[in-house]
Amino acid sequence: MKGIILAGGRGTRLQPITNYLNKHLIPLYNKPIIFYPLCTLMLSGIKDIGIVINPNEREFFEKLLGDGSDWNIKISFIEQKKPGGIIDAISYCENFLNGENFITILGDNIFLSSRLKDDLENAKKDFKGGCTLFSYHVKDPSGYGVLKKNDSIFEIVEKPEKFVSNLAITGIYIYEFNSIEKIKKITFSHRGEREVTDLNNIYLKEGNAKIKYFSRGYAWFDVGSFDSFNEASNLIKIVESRQNIGFGYPEEVAYNLKYISKKKLENLILKVENSEYSDYLTKLL
Ligand code: G1P
Repeated sequence: MKGIILAGGRGTRLQPITNYLNKHLIPLYNKPIIFYPLCTLMLSGIKDIGIVINPNEREFFEKLLGDGSDWNIKISFIEQKKPGGIIDAISYCENFLNGENFITILGDNIFLSSRLKDDLENAKKDFKGGCTLFSYHVKDPSGYGVLKKNDSIFEIVEKPEKFVSNLAITGIYIYEFNSIEKIKKITFSHRGEREVTDLNNIYLKEGNAKIKYFSRGYAWFDVGSFDSFNEASNLIKIVESRQNIGFGYPEEVAYNLKYISKKKLENLILKVENSEYSDYLTKLL
C-alpha cells in the first residue's frame, strides 16, 4: 500500500497566517503540522508517501522534508493545479499510485493514541477492497461528515444542519486503487469541492465500505480552526512535558521501526543541534 498526505488547499480559516504560509507548515506546539500525519502514515508501516501540495509551495515542503531519505522512506510531491477538495486532490495521484491501494490522511488531522499503530496495521491487513473509514465520537459533529444509520443502512451526511449522530468520519481513509475511476465521475459541490462524502456514500451503497471506530483513549483533532489548533497544541505540550512521550517526531518513528540505525539518528540529531527537538531525540539513544 502507498500513502497520500493532502497538504494543498487555502487554509482560509487560519488567515491571515495562511496568506503567506501553507497551513501544514505552521507549528503545532513544537513542530510543523505535517510531521503528525506523516508519522501516522509511517506508523501504519507505509514507506512510499505522496504529498499533494499547491504548485507554488513545493520549495518549502522540499526544504522541510526532502525526499524522505533521512527517515529511510520515499517522499514524492504531487502538485494539485488548484484547490478542489479531498478527492480532487487524490485524483492527481493516479500515476503516483500506479495501481496500488492506499491510505489517505488529511494533512491537518492529528491522531494521538498508543493504539494507533496496531489499529492501522490491522485495518491494512483486513483491507479487501472498497474503502475503510474511521469514525470518532464527538460532542459537536456539525462540522464533519457524520454517520447516519437507518436500520442496518449507513449513509454519511456532510456537515449536517440537523443532528444525525455523534459519529464523525475522521480524515483518514483506506481506498482501493479503483476509487480513482469513481472519483472522476463525481462533480463539484456548491462549495466548489469534489466531496469525499460523495465517494464514501457510493461505497456504502454498494456494501463495499468498512467502518472502524476509534475508541476511548484516542484524541483526534482536525486543526483547521484556531480553537482546535490551540486545543491540540496544548494536549501535545501536556503529554510531552509531563510524560516525556513525543508525538510527531519522524526520526523517532523511523528509529523505533528500525528504518534507521543509531548512527544515523545521531547524525540527524546534529542537524537540529541546540534545540528542544534534539534534546528529545537524544534521550532515545
Ligand atoms: C473534511 C470532510 C469531512 C470530514 C473532515 C475530517 O471536512 O469533508 O467529511 O469529517 O474533513 O477532518 P473539511 O475539512 O473539508 O471541512
